Amino acid sequence: MAIITWKSCYETGNATFDAEHRALVNALNDLHVAMREKRGDEVLLPLLTTLNTYIRKHFQHEEETMLKYHYPDLEAHIKAHGSFKNTVKDFQEQVLTGYSGLSPELYKYLRDWLLNHIVKTDSQFGNFLREKNIYTCGPPVL
Ligand SMILES: [Fe+2]
Repeated sequence: MAIITWKSCYETGNATFDAEHRALVNALNDLHVAMREKRGDEVLLPLLTTLNTYIRKHFQHEEETMLKYHYPDLEAHIKAHGSFKNTVKDFQEQVLTGYSGLSPELYKYLRDWLLNHIVKTDSQFGNFLREKNIYTCGPPVL
């Protein structure tokens, strides 16, 4: 599995969300590098702790914006965020109690979920904002 290269087509058009998504991808890449260098178990707990704090803050930003603009898929989106938050928290607890370490399955799960969510689900919200002419970086120049 290779390092994730950020592409402009992953962007939602919302500067805050895009910066936060990039930070999440960077965190995944850090984990990947650590795993490749066999330092995975050493960085797993701090990384899961950072990820846990970070996704909570990021998901809250998205959900607040969805609520503000009456996004029709808000409920489903909150549910998806909630189940991922619970899974990350469970992993974190398993690592804390020594029950689990870093496995390729764990890394693959985090990577697949986050990329799929950013590229598919969040980009739909980005399209919704564009259709409503809501830009955080200023309107497009025509
Ligand atoms: Fe999201």
